[in-house]
Amino acid sequence: MAGTVMSAASHNRMMELTPPTETIRTGHDWFDEAAMGLFVHWGIASVRGDTELSWGMIEDRPWDDRDAVSAEEYWGLAEEFDPHSYAPDRWARAAREAGMSYAVLTARHHDGFSMWPTEYGEFGVAENLDGRDLVGEFADACRRQGIQVGLYYSPRDWHHPDYPGSPGSYGELPDEVPPTPEGMAERESYHRYVTGQVEELLTRYRPDLLWFDGYWPVETSGDAELYDVVRAADSEIVVNDRGGASILGDYQTYECDFPERPPSEPWELCQIWTGGPGGTWGHVDGETYESHSWTVDLLARTVGWGGTLLLNVGPLSDGRLPEGARDRLRKLADWHAANEPSVRDVRPGPWPPQCDRPVTRSADGRVWYVHLLDRTSGRVTVRNVPEPRALTVLRDGTAVPFEYERSRPSGGGAVRVELPVDGVEALDVLAVTWDDPPRDDPDGLGRPR
Ligand code: GLC
Repeated sequence: MAGTVMSAASHNRMMELTPPTETIRTGHDWFDEAAMGLFVHWGIASVRGDTELSWGMIEDRPWDDRDAVSAEEYWGLAEEFDPHSYAPDRWARAAREAGMSYAVLTARHHDGFSMWPTEYGEFGVAENLDGRDLVGEFADACRRQGIQVGLYYSPRDWHHPDYPGSPGSYGELPDEVPPTPEGMAERESYHRYVTGQVEELLTRYRPDLLWFDGYWPVETSGDAELYDVVRAADSEIVVNDRGGASILGDYQTYECDFPERPPSEPWELCQIWTGGPGGTWGHVDGETYESHSWTVDLLARTVGWGGTLLLNVGPLSDGRLPEGARDRLRKLADWHAANEPSVRDVRPGPWPPQCDRPVTRSADGRVWYVHLLDRTSGRVTVRNVPEPRALTVLRDGTAVPFEYERSRPSGGGAVRVELPVDGVEALDVLAVTWDDPPRDDPDGLGRPR
């Protein structure tokens, strides 16, 4: 895995050398307008509540020996997996109300358990849950609730007997070893399994987004063919960049690691939402969700740099969302009801930055949204802009007093607000409005020293 992961990272670094542009689009309107999505990591590991999804069965991970269980013990959890309270309409409604435009469910994670009754492979709901279609129910619920359907799929399957590396292990076949005829047959069979499953997911559920993870396991042309399968089944689908070296995808993923500067290509930050040492993707007992202000801060910084935030929850094995997740989603819903225009269908803030808080801009450029975060005292300055027509609290339209200091004949000057101001609260957004959109940093004065 290390090799393929590195190649994606160096791709990211390369892209970051190019300065960000004003408008970053994939050409898929719903995705370009989205501020957030809900990532759902759910599977048989949640039965134990003390081990990470898939990774819990890898006893030889050199970087982390927490919570390892034997592969056999892990796979045995499939027999106890009983999602009797699974009602995905609740997840999808909570996501929509929180301001999320899509949700992405782990249709099959690295552990190999297929969450839909697939015709390929022998480990999943078909064998253990009388064929209950957890993916189909999820896709239908998202559509009913008016959000886009995303499916996560790992081309690696640590359970499959033909996985290139021994089942239950993280290892992979060294590229330099020429496969034996038997090895070749296994690769072909594995290939048919993965491409078959992907085609099945796309044609059966017509997802709007396919979220690959883990990359293609060996350096063969398998990933290129996989990409052809995806495009042939659905040319409109949004695909991320983690299917293999040939699948650059429609956007770049950043994982729990905020980019150092705004990427020049469309991007999404996928984020573990539970804190503590390391946090986990799947549910573990005793986890705590990050605070509401932490979440709004991350959202504002992500959208202010042109990205989309994919926030993760790990449901309990019975199908309910943990209380921590429900609480944070409700808080986000309240924030979103008051502040939606600052994050949905906006453009990134100016670059170089002209304010020390995260800024987004309306599509027509005439309104800049300044996210105060939880700092409600001190000075807020927007530099090198013409005098605004109005400055208000986005939540309720309260006018906020400001000073304007003109510094350039060209029209550049500084807008200053001294906080605290009556009626301005933590996590509020200031809407700064002009009749004509200000030009991007006309004199280079926004450049940080
Ligand atoms: C990493 C982890 C995987 C998780 C994914 C989400 O690739 O290995 O468990 O699903 O991140 O981005």
